[in-house]
Amino acid sequence: MSKARVLIVEDENLVARDLHNMVRLLGYEVTAVVQTGEEVIASLNQKKPDLVLMDIVLKGKLDGISVAAVVWEEYCIPVVYITSFADDLTFERAKLTEPFGYLIKPFEERELELTIETALYKARMQLLLREKEQWLSTILRSIGDGIIVLNSEGLISFINPVAQRMTGLDEKQALGRKFEQVFRLKDQNGHLPDFELFSLRESILISKDGREIPIEQTVAPLPPDRAVSPGQVIVFRDITARKKAERELQDSWARLQRALQGTIQAISTTIEMRDPYTAGHQRRVAKLAEAIGRELGMPEARLEGLKLAAEIHDIGKIYVPSEILSKPTKLTELEYTIIKTHPQAGHEILKNIEFPWPIAEIVLQHHERIDGSGYPRGLKNGQILPESRILAVADVVEAMASHRPYRPAFGLDRALEEIKLNRGRLYGPDEVDACVKLIEQRGFSLD
Ligand SMILES: [Fe+2]
Repeated sequence: MSKARVLIVEDENLVARDLHNMVRLLGYEVTAVVQTGEEVIASLNQKKPDLVLMDIVLKGKLDGISVAAVVWEEYCIPVVYITSFADDLTFERAKLTEPFGYLIKPFEERELELTIETALYKARMQLLLREKEQWLSTILRSIGDGIIVLNSEGLISFINPVAQRMTGLDEKQALGRKFEQVFRLKDQNGHLPDFELFSLRESILISKDGREIPIEQTVAPLPPDRAVSPGQVIVFRDITARKKAERELQDSWARLQRALQGTIQAISTTIEMRDPYTAGHQRRVAKLAEAIGRELGMPEARLEGLKLAAEIHDIGKIYVPSEILSKPTKLTELEYTIIKTHPQAGHEILKNIEFPWPIAEIVLQHHERIDGSGYPRGLKNGQILPESRILAVADVVEAMASHRPYRPAFGLDRALEEIKLNRGRLYGPDEVDACVKLIEQRGFSLD
C-alpha cells in the first residue's frame, strides 16, 4: 500500500523543516508545508492530502483549531495536532474538533509514525461509519412505510418523511417528543392505553389535523439482542386502500351469497310447483336442519352449506312423474323404486356446480341410515356426512308432521316418537337428541 500524503502546517520555519524531513524519512509524501490557516485551505484545494499535521498556534486570523474543524467537516481529512504546550482552554476547544491525535513537541519518529497511522485508521473507520449511516438514512427516508425510532426513554430520535406526512408533524416538531404525543392511535372503541399500543397489529392513526388513517404496524426492539432498556423501531403502513378492497370484496361476496340463495330458492320453488302437496317441505326442512346443526355446534360457514343443500334436497324428484308424487293412494313397489332414485338424480343435477360446500354429496346421502339400511348406497354411520345425518332427521320429522297426498299429517309428536324409537339405529343419536331438545324444550316451530 502506498504511503499517505501529508500536509504540514507549522509557522516556525525550523520546526517545519525538521518535521518535513521526519515525515519524508518515514516514507510519507509531503504535499506542502504551509504557515497559515488561509494557506491550508488553498493547499487542500490544489493537492488533497490524506492527513494534516497542524500546529495549534498559527500566524494569521485563523488558528489551528478553527482550521481543523473545516478540514474534517468539509474535506473529510483527519487532523493531528502538534503543540509545544496545551492549556486547558485550548485543549477543550481542540477536543470539540474531534482530533485524530495529538503530538506534544518534542517527539520521536516512531511516535509520529504511530500517531499518523492511528489517525488514518480512525478517519477511515469514521468515514465508513458515516457512509453507512448516510446509506441507512437514505433508505429509511425513501422507504414507503412510516418509520419512527424511539430511544430508551421512549422519545423520538428519528422520523422519516412518510411518518411525518402521516402524523402531520415535521422532524422539528416530532424529534425529542414523547412517542404517544406524536403517534396517537385508537381502535374502534377510542384511545388506547400505551401498553396496548404495541400489541395491536392494526389500528387507526390520528394525525395532527384529526385525519384518521387505518394502519398496520410492527414494533421491534433496538438493538434486538440487548435486553436492558432498548430503544424501539416502529414501522407502520397506511392500509386505507387495502381496507377498502377488503370491504369491496366482502360486499361482493355477500352479493354473490344472496344471488346464490335466491337461485337455490327459485329452484326449490320450481320443484315444489310440480308437487303442491309438499310445498314448503324443503324450506321447513332447511329451517330445522340449520337449527339442529347450530345446536350441535356446527360452524356458521358449514351451516350455510347445510341450509342450501336442505333447500334443494329433493331436486331429483324432478325425474319422478308428478302422478306418482301426488298419488293419493299407497304407492306400489315399482312406484316406490322410482321415488327412491331421487337422491341419485339430485346428485347428477348438482354434481358439476362448484359450490363451496359438498352440496351434491349431502343431497345424495340424505336417505342413508346409520345402520346401512338406507339408499342409494347403504352407507353406515361414519361413512355418512354429518350434514346428511342432520338432513335425514329433519326430513323425516317434517315429512311425518305434515300432510301427504296418501295420508293425513301424523303431527310432531308422532314424528318425534319415530326418531326417538330409531335413535342410534336409523338416525344419529346426537342429531335426534338435538332435534328433540329443540322442539320439546326450546319451542322450535317448523313454520
Ligand atoms: Fe328425499
